Amino acid sequence: MILSPHGLEYQGVNGLICASLMHKKLLEPIQLGPTRIKNRIFNPPHGTTLSHQGAVTDELVAYHEARAKGGTGLIILEGMTFHPSYGFKEAFLYAGDDNVIPGLQRLGNTCRQHDTKVFGQLFHAGRAVRLSHDGSRPLTYSASDVPDERYRVTPVPMPNAMVWEMIDSYVQAAGRLAEAELDGVEILASMGYLIAQFLNPLTNLRSDEFGGSHENRLRFLKEILIRSRGRIGQGKTLGIRVTLDEKTEGGLSTDDMMAICQDLENNQLVDYFSVISGSSATPGGWIHVFPPMAVPNAFVADDAARLKQVVAKPVLVAGRINQAQTAEVILIEGKADMIGMVRALIADAEFVNKVASGDTDQIRACVGCNQACVGHRLAHHAVSCIQNPMSGRELQFESATKSTEVKKVLVIGGGPAGMRAAATAAIRGHSVTLYEKNHKLGGQVDLAERLPGRAEFGGVTTNLLQELNDLPVSVHLNTAVTAQLIDSHKPDVVIIATGAQPRLPDIDTGDIEFIDSWSVIRDHRKIGQNVVIADWSCDWSGLGIAQKLVQEGHYVRLVSGASVAGESIQGIVRDHWIGEMHRLGVEMTTYARLYGADGGNVYFQHTTSGEPIVCEQVDTVVSCFAPQSSHEFDWLADSVDQGDQQFELYRIGDAMAPRTVEEAVLEGFTTAMLL
Ligand SMILES: Cc1cc2nc3c(=O)[nH]c(=O)nc-3n(C[C@H](O)[C@H](O)[C@H](O)COP(=O)(O)O)c2cc1C
Ligand code: SF4
Repeated sequence: MILSPHGLEYQGVNGLICASLMHKKLLEPIQLGPTRIKNRIFNPPHGTTLSHQGAVTDELVAYHEARAKGGTGLIILEGMTFHPSYGFKEAFLYAGDDNVIPGLQRLGNTCRQHDTKVFGQLFHAGRAVRLSHDGSRPLTYSASDVPDERYRVTPVPMPNAMVWEMIDSYVQAAGRLAEAELDGVEILASMGYLIAQFLNPLTNLRSDEFGGSHENRLRFLKEILIRSRGRIGQGKTLGIRVTLDEKTEGGLSTDDMMAICQDLENNQLVDYFSVISGSSATPGGWIHVFPPMAVPNAFVADDAARLKQVVAKPVLVAGRINQAQTAEVILIEGKADMIGMVRALIADAEFVNKVASGDTDQIRACVGCNQACVGHRLAHHAVSCIQNPMSGRELQFESATKSTEVKKVLVIGGGPAGMRAAATAAIRGHSVTLYEKNHKLGGQVDLAERLPGRAEFGGVTTNLLQELNDLPVSVHLNTAVTAQLIDSHKPDVVIIATGAQPRLPDIDTGDIEFIDSWSVIRDHRKIGQNVVIADWSCDWSGLGIAQKLVQEGHYVRLVSGASVAGESIQGIVRDHWIGEMHRLGVEMTTYARLYGADGGNVYFQHTTSGEPIVCEQVDTVVSCFAPQSSHEFDWLADSVDQGDQQFELYRIGDAMAPRTVEEAVLEGFTTAMLL
């Protein structure tokens, strides 16, 4: 018997938990309007950057097919643009002309071969636009000329004729999705984007038939829905994505949104409501659109439950749901009818199959780091996952099959790079041995997960350990690798994945104690009351150590080299952390290069003006300086170069050059794929 996070008990069979029974509700079919979905897990819309010039590519089809093969009941394709006022074919599928139809048709047919239904989402950001076709500042359009805090734009109020033209564009685009034989159309009315800008009385100041009263503000959305239904017919599902809590100053209120949903329900305008949280309009709201690990799991479930009390149509929910058990409990408790997973399925495309076969312990759970999914997308690269390099690269690695030759592979170092290399080499049929000199596997993940609010990051190691446990990899801990040991193995391949080491900057530190960040986290080194963090790295270490030390009662100054602390980490994760710094009273300085220390003072230099920045009365400096690759096995490379050794030798991850877990796992994977 186990307890769910909500206190529900699941009964085991003869003392064993039968997971497929345990997740019975998740695997039940459901009807969304005319469309029957085989189970309750859907893949919500998410921009992948796998389209090209607005059209479907082979890469995009392969990406979605992997999730369809993985058992996902419904895929709702990424928000498609469709109107010249927001016509970014570079980064979006574009449903504003017929060119999109054949690709969508192919994508839908491919997924339906795996009994997965496919809807398309229509999206207009309104004033929330930074992109342009040529680098100039774009004109943005909205209900009124209310400025946007996050994008820092003042939009053009849409003339009345343009509003009607926009409605028609939605309808024409919905028609194209139907012509492409998709199973349904979703209208994005959430997250503070165009439709929400019309619904919100603070962003809609119009005096025509689209502004003023509740009914008038709702007219834009209703016209889109009524006319789209007329265009796509009763044979297709028509749904809507809504936000009940924008987590935004001046956001649309929950009560307003509930009343709007009731109105749509009473008028039979939609087949389902998909609930999400957050808004594009403020940094605080944006954090909840792509919620990082600091946001609680399933944080939107209670909003969905509220909506379910006032509407009869199915309510779908998403937002940091990354475990089958959490999803099942939401369904059992009647809070929602379907569970959406974006990042959970980026991390593990086989999620649903593993639920169905009872192998939930083999699910590679998303840890909410946002690095390679949201991070890549917002930097205009294809989405991927720090844990699952196959994601977004399905075509590149479609032949991830057994190797034709079985090789003896020796992996030195059990951080993420070594673990991934060992697991992938074993999956490909090689005979793999992994040596780690410490008492546990995990490398730097072990450091990152010890910082406040970062425990979930340890999932990267837990997931890899689970994989290694299920594979015939011989793992040796507490073992230093020597020349004799290597000789005794007679390997065909040696992979050096020994990571990096911290180092202190080469400066005069005077009478002030300098401690490297790793020692502060790992060895709990005693430090003084007044701390300066000299933050060269501008990653998780400076922010995390600042938080830890303030919580332990120290006075902390975080002095960073970049324009913002945490510049090297994903922006949403950073924004949340910066908020924590402010709440905790951490004094932050930026553009600062460490210069030296003397007589209780630490000296920095402004990186642009060259002027001094002085921190007085400092007891300890925690140095987050650039780590250095481990050179422990340079002798091995030398002996291979000199022809003394006959094996293939690879150096991967931080042992090559210090970077992040993403590159460590990627190189572990790609190296093992070469063997
Ligand atoms: C890379 C990425 C792109 C997204 N693009 C869209 C989008 O086009 N339309 C939309 O409604 N939501 C979009 N979202 C939000 C997701 O649909 C979802 O609500 C959010 O990721 C939370 O769910 P999760 O915790 O399961 O990832 C996107 C999310 C991600 C990660
Ligand atoms: S990169 Fe991080 S947040 Fe994104 S899917 Fe992978 S584990 Fe989840």
